[in-house]
Amino acid sequence: MHVQEFARRRRHLMELIGRDGVAVLAAAPERTRSRDTLYSYRPDSDFYYVTGFAEPDAVAVLMPGRSQGEFVLFCRERDPLRELWDGYREGPEGAVERYGADDAFPIGDIEDILPGLLERSERVYYSMGVSAEFDQRLLGWMQTLHARRQRGHAPNELVDLDHLLHEMRLFKSRRELSAMKRSARIAVAAHERAMRLCEPGRHEYELEAEFVHEFRRNGAHCAYDPIVAGGTNACVLHYRTNNNELKDGDLVLIDAGCEYDLYASDITRTFPVNGRFTAPQRELYEVVFEANRAAVEKVLPGNHWNDPHDAAVKTITRGLRELGILNGRLTSLLKEEAYKPYFMHKTGHWLGLDVHDVGDYKVADQWRLLERGMVTTIEPGIYIAADEKGVKKRWRGIGIRLEDDVLVTKDGPDVLTGGLALAADDVEQLMSEAA
Ligand code: GLY
Ligand code: MN
Ligand code: MN
Repeated sequence: MHVQEFARRRRHLMELIGRDGVAVLAAAPERTRSRDTLYSYRPDSDFYYVTGFAEPDAVAVLMPGRSQGEFVLFCRERDPLRELWDGYREGPEGAVERYGADDAFPIGDIEDILPGLLERSERVYYSMGVSAEFDQRLLGWMQTLHARRQRGHAPNELVDLDHLLHEMRLFKSRRELSAMKRSARIAVAAHERAMRLCEPGRHEYELEAEFVHEFRRNGAHCAYDPIVAGGTNACVLHYRTNNNELKDGDLVLIDAGCEYDLYASDITRTFPVNGRFTAPQRELYEVVFEANRAAVEKVLPGNHWNDPHDAAVKTITRGLRELGILNGRLTSLLKEEAYKPYFMHKTGHWLGLDVHDVGDYKVADQWRLLERGMVTTIEPGIYIAADEKGVKKRWRGIGIRLEDDVLVTKDGPDVLTGGLALAADDVEQLMSEAA
């Protein structure tokens, strides 16, 4: 992402905060995986959104209208020995030269400098509850300022930064959309790889490996642990074990997306392990396919957030009724939410820097309206548990989800993941080409 994009975001946020406010954002800490090995570092999305700075042990301060500089960054100092072991650090010099900081200081000096930066403001904007440790430190600095306010000014309000920042993050800029489109394209290619490779006798982890390969060769990472669920494993919504053999005659459900430039894609496809749907698999597949289509069509500016879900629920209820899995009048079935044992999650969520991205779904207790620049997933599913006695045997143990990423535009839904086969015939065609 270009340095100007981050500068634009800071300007926008500072306009919202106003001249008597100050914003404080802390970087995510490094986290231990086991003993002395760490998880690969993932910046905090809010911190990264505002700074573009991807190192731990950093704190950003935004002070709208401050004549000596509005953006101050605290970060790790250059350290030849640590850099020999762990790699390059920007240091305060790099923060000023390459990240647009007006001033930058070693993180070790924060106790001495930060309280003085807060002093000038009325309100401190900060996201409480992300880091208990930093919460305590910030509150401590504010208390200290209060204790000696006879000698100077002290902010008397702590305001949640989430609301302003997350509303900004909900609307994707041109540059963000270009990253998200790339993220979607990479994930589409990875799903195609997995469909081509799949055959009975392979293991779920072999398909997972196709994703890791395709993501990494494109400079992307997994946005979340891929779900590769053969047969009845598909009925476990967040199955991640991925170590079972894929069986002839079963379906495999894959929910996998990547993070490119930290922007997520999130795709699910469900396809036959041997390349051909059985009749009951296809019957259920068609219902989920229609639900996906019906929901995507509702991703329009001016529609309510929940309209796509309502469309998916209606299509799934109707489809299950036509198959004889649900019995009764359509209106009663909808009213009783009879679909819920088989479709127990929502049809989507915001997508962006986080796979379940930030942004309110309701405004003043009402579903919010969809607007241009928002990106949502559309992911209806049907899951018939293996021991679901109320449903004929032919459908038991089948789990299907079809998930796409959709941008709201004035010209209608833009399916960022639309390049990937979705219709049953197209899936079979793709898999047969590989054979
Ligand atoms: N991959 C998680 C989800 O689909 O929401
Ligand atoms: Mn998903
Ligand atoms: Mn999703």
